[in-house]
Amino acid sequence: MGQAYLGPNRRQVLGGLAAVSFARPSFAAVPELVAAQTAVQLAPEGYAPTPVWAFGGQVPGPVLRAGQGTRMQQRVVNKLDTPTSVHWHGIRLENAMDGVAGLTQQAIAPGESFDYDFRLPDAGTYWYHSHNRSFEQVARGLLGPLIVDEADPPEVDFDEVLMLDDWRFAQDATLMEGFGALMDASHAGRIGNWVTVNGRGAWDKPMPRGARVRLRLINGANARVFQLRLAGMRAAVVALDGMPVDTPQETDTVALAPAQRVDLIVDIVADEGEEALILSQERDGDYAVASFPVEAGQEPRSTEFPTLPPNPVFLPDMPSILGATMHEMRLEGGAMRGIASAMHQGEELDGRSLAERGMVWALSGVAGMPEAPYLEVARGETVRIGLTNDTAWPHGMHLHGHHFLEFAGAPAADAPFRLRDTTLLGPGERREIAFVADNPGDWLIHCHMLEHAASGMMTWIRVT
Ligand code: C2O
Ligand code: CU
Ligand code: CU
Repeated sequence: MGQAYLGPNRRQVLGGLAAVSFARPSFAAVPELVAAQTAVQLAPEGYAPTPVWAFGGQVPGPVLRAGQGTRMQQRVVNKLDTPTSVHWHGIRLENAMDGVAGLTQQAIAPGESFDYDFRLPDAGTYWYHSHNRSFEQVARGLLGPLIVDEADPPEVDFDEVLMLDDWRFAQDATLMEGFGALMDASHAGRIGNWVTVNGRGAWDKPMPRGARVRLRLINGANARVFQLRLAGMRAAVVALDGMPVDTPQETDTVALAPAQRVDLIVDIVADEGEEALILSQERDGDYAVASFPVEAGQEPRSTEFPTLPPNPVFLPDMPSILGATMHEMRLEGGAMRGIASAMHQGEELDGRSLAERGMVWALSGVAGMPEAPYLEVARGETVRIGLTNDTAWPHGMHLHGHHFLEFAGAPAADAPFRLRDTTLLGPGERREIAFVADNPGDWLIHCHMLEHAASGMMTWIRVT
């Protein structure tokens, strides 16, 4: 019954009875993350709750949070009637814990569970999501935030996780079927018609004027690139995809590809009675996806934005990047361009035969997961990849198990420092990435527009 003493007045007990030992009970169970069907209120009042698939009965799933350098243990219990798995996006973990059904583990069958247990080497903003038929399972709600705290976090008044998503609703706010439809796959992907932040259509939270807030933005949508604008706040980017930037960059716009994260530190500068806003810039205008009604407070700070401590990523130096073999990866296909021909499961096929097999994209002439890795490298090698988007659509390319340096053009010592796990390429854009392959195992590289990944834009590398 030890637990009961620790209830409402734990503080008092701790203060008053210093001699009592609070050793962790030996029966402590592994925390469970249950995947199951449920219904949640995503649409405005007046609509019925939307049937979804969810972790922990909520959408997004519960915020999982732990300190840098600690281990995270989660027993994922599958109460769905279909197999699933969980990927811990952006965490540089052991390959066996990466959660990729069909590559690093078997999918978790209905009624079964899988124990994930991994170390959290880096502080920052991450997320978790299904990695089995993710184009369907993520769209149905199987995603949530994963936050790793610095030992010595920057001084802020509030720390808010904002998980952005979109949903394709029918008239009655049920989710439209047609997951992975080729019509979506060959275009932008499954773009929804209802945007939510933390599962709400109009998320808001009152803030005192002058408050300094850390905002952790996560794009959990299947395919939507958010182009955000900030109003009523002075903001600086302090981390990208979990990784601190070297100097905070002041900005009032943020582009967020699917799976990308941006940590901002903002000062609320709007006056009492006004609102500070995060707006999504859409074709028909800007609309607020999150608002902070401003209450009485103080003058905003005049101090500079803090810099986050760097994470222990082993960075390649410039000579090793420039000396590394350049691996070209061409992004091909999709509506308006098409593919003349590509390899698929060991066969050279023309565009029409590929489409019949659900393939409408290719990476350097290969559509879909190849038998052999795109690249096999020895542990510790510096890898340099040139990504060229030869398509008419944007793509957010994601590498598992590593973060990479991102260069707008060719790598250069004076290029801005950007360490990411997902890079957004607009139509016609070219970008180079470089990283030290220091994490052994089989790791996916794929487009995080999930319909694109399912229809050809997926390959893998092996680090031995
Ligand atoms: Cu967040 Cu392979 O994905
Ligand atoms: Cu990932
Ligand atoms: Cu894509």
